[in-house]
Amino acid sequence: MLVLGIETSCDETGIALLDARRGLLAHALHSQVALHAGYGGVVPELASRDHIRKTLPLLRRVLEEASVTATDIDGIAYTAGPGLVGALLVGASIAHSLAWAWGTPTLGVHHMEGHLMAPLLERAAPAPPFVALLVSGGHTLLVEVAGLGRYRVLGESLDDAVGEAFDKTAKLLGLPYPGGPALARLAERGDPHRFRFPRPMTDRPGLDFSFSGLKTFAINTFHNEPEDEQTRADIARAFEDAVVDTLAIKSRRALRATGLRRLVVAGGVGANQRLRQGLRALAQTLGAQVFYPRPEFCTDNGAMIAQAGLLRLAAGQRDGLGIEVRARWALTELGPV
Ligand code: KG4
Ligand code: ZN
Repeated sequence: MLVLGIETSCDETGIALLDARRGLLAHALHSQVALHAGYGGVVPELASRDHIRKTLPLLRRVLEEASVTATDIDGIAYTAGPGLVGALLVGASIAHSLAWAWGTPTLGVHHMEGHLMAPLLERAAPAPPFVALLVSGGHTLLVEVAGLGRYRVLGESLDDAVGEAFDKTAKLLGLPYPGGPALARLAERGDPHRFRFPRPMTDRPGLDFSFSGLKTFAINTFHNEPEDEQTRADIARAFEDAVVDTLAIKSRRALRATGLRRLVVAGGVGANQRLRQGLRALAQTLGAQVFYPRPEFCTDNGAMIAQAGLLRLAAGQRDGLGIEVRARWALTELGPV
């Protein structure tokens, strides 16, 4: 089965062709970072219009690269939510139009299930059951995954998502959007001993997170210290260390609570090198295994949507003819396959 994946939920247009037997045949990504940079964040209407411009040219490129024609495609998977409604509608409309023209089935995919399935694109793919730490710009979740669509949320952020906290703290430090990677680069020059930020909600039981306090702590530190380059780097380092520690502490608790020995990390913040190191060290002390998608498949991409879509399409799931997208959509609303 050959599946076309289309991702347009936010500020990246991602297209991929995934074959059940042969694996990933081709994928392409267009990032809108430059388009939104001047505004300090994603402008939804600009995002939608850019997806309209980029989706079909990227699709042509991917088809050519994989030497595939439309008649070879057995199904189209696109992101149906959660995300920006206008941006989602572009992907959904194009998917349904192509499906109508080609006579192939379509399926709307949950964006976070896409992130969750991204590690399956790698050769050492984890088998359920496992604990997943989903860390993106919009979500921070610890999930017990018993199988495809069989999810139990163990903990989530009560306020800002981790990626959002990275982005807001980066903005405070004068770094360009998107802040996560820029903050991580600045932190490399930071002194880990100058400031110590709190590890929110680790002093009480439970698996929920709260990151808005860390951002406030960064603001207060920033305003009480001299405004120089080294201070900015030291704050970035202290912030990053606090986030990594907090995520590691809660991941350890989740593994202990479930008795599971596999941890899957996915979502944009999963590209963070210090987090990857921290969780690898944690896994070692617990005798557990940790799995990541390659960094380019941590952030938004079409391959993960093709991967989640392939599993569901292969199980016979299909969309109706109506075009429906959802700005908000809980992972736990998905049914098992
Ligand atoms: O999964 P993603 O691409 O989009 C959403 O579904 O939200 O995640 C984007 C988030 C942004 O907040 C970005 O700053 C963060 O992931 N991010 C990082 C890194 N790369 C991306 N945060 C920390 N370190 C990174 N290397
Ligand atoms: Zn995402």
